[in-house]
Amino acid sequence: MAANSDIAFKRLPVKIIGTGSYVPERRLTNADLEKMVDTSHEWIIERTGIVERRIAAPDEYTSHMGTKAAQRALESCGLKPEDIDLIIVATITPDTFTPSTSCYIQDALGAKNAAAFDISAACSGFLFAMKTAVQYIGTGQMKTALIIAAEKLSTVVNWEDRSTCVLFGDGAGAAVLQASTGEEGEGSVLATDIGSDGSLHDLLQIPGGGSRCPTTAENAHERLATLAMRGNETFRHAVTRMKASAASVIERAGLTADDIQLIIPHQANLRIINAVAQRLSIPEDKVFVNIEKYGNTSAAAVAIAFDEARRSGRFGKGDNVVLVTFGAGLTWSAAVIRW
Ligand code: COA
Repeated sequence: MAANSDIAFKRLPVKIIGTGSYVPERRLTNADLEKMVDTSHEWIIERTGIVERRIAAPDEYTSHMGTKAAQRALESCGLKPEDIDLIIVATITPDTFTPSTSCYIQDALGAKNAAAFDISAACSGFLFAMKTAVQYIGTGQMKTALIIAAEKLSTVVNWEDRSTCVLFGDGAGAAVLQASTGEEGEGSVLATDIGSDGSLHDLLQIPGGGSRCPTTAENAHERLATLAMRGNETFRHAVTRMKASAASVIERAGLTADDIQLIIPHQANLRIINAVAQRLSIPEDKVFVNIEKYGNTSAAAVAIAFDEARRSGRFGKGDNVVLVTFGAGLTWSAAVIRW
């Protein structure tokens, strides 16, 4: 059996029973960015598809956004915080290095019966968290899991670097997963895939601020604790890996591209999204896009998009929905859900 196989936990089906999301109020438009760096609305829209992104208030942390998204997810399925056994938070912008952001969120929610930990898989984090939760629930170790992806990327963006600062924004998304008691049905996670290629760690990274290169008075001016990306190369890997990961879960779920009613890709670049859909032979009207409103919110992007697509009725009962992501690491992940 392949390491990534879903065969074992298909016997104990896992369902998504609720979703939620939250974005901060403040909008940073392309016109605003034109005043900050040498860029233009035309360049940003043509090269990325982004029109504006949300920026959290100085006193609004990753955990605050994650808590709001989690509360909405719990409301959507009628569960109480005490019902949660497990909280997994995916983030690259934790409130603090330690304790984990999940512990702050557990406290804010009052989810006193939950074990809580963070995972770090950059933009792929939400689906890494989903796969982890599916394993805990599918093997009978936990009954109810809350997975959250939350990012305050505005704190790790170099606002003087036009090649990255136009891309990113803040926000959070969440989902509640539970063991399914009966047959595979509404919300079932049919297949998941995760993968990594650490040999390409330098394509997209925050090189400083950790144990490898701590921020010091001497290097502070170099802004090493901000996002650095080799955009062009990252773009190529994103298309290849997202296509392969999505194709693998579609196949493992026993489906073909024609059976997919909606694909929700990581929102990093509209050109990447279109290229992936085209390579999967999934037509444009079956592709969910909200990048124009929020930019790239890393782990939160696919979680916010999933919640928005559900609430706006972009998919309904019995539909097969594919989620697919790609991020720093490199990491990639995908899931098929039968709603
Ligand atoms: N405004 C105007 N010009 C800009 C600019 C901006 N904000 N940012 C870069 N440019 C310029 C560059 O300086 C370069 O100019 P030059 O040709 O004179 O050197 C030119 O635009 C083209 O740069 P390039 O990096 O080749 O652009 P691109 O078409 O690859 O688009 C990205 C850049 C970042 C939008 C794109 O590469 C991308 O989306 N990469 C992948 C992101 C991703 O997948 N992330 C996933 C993990 S989060």
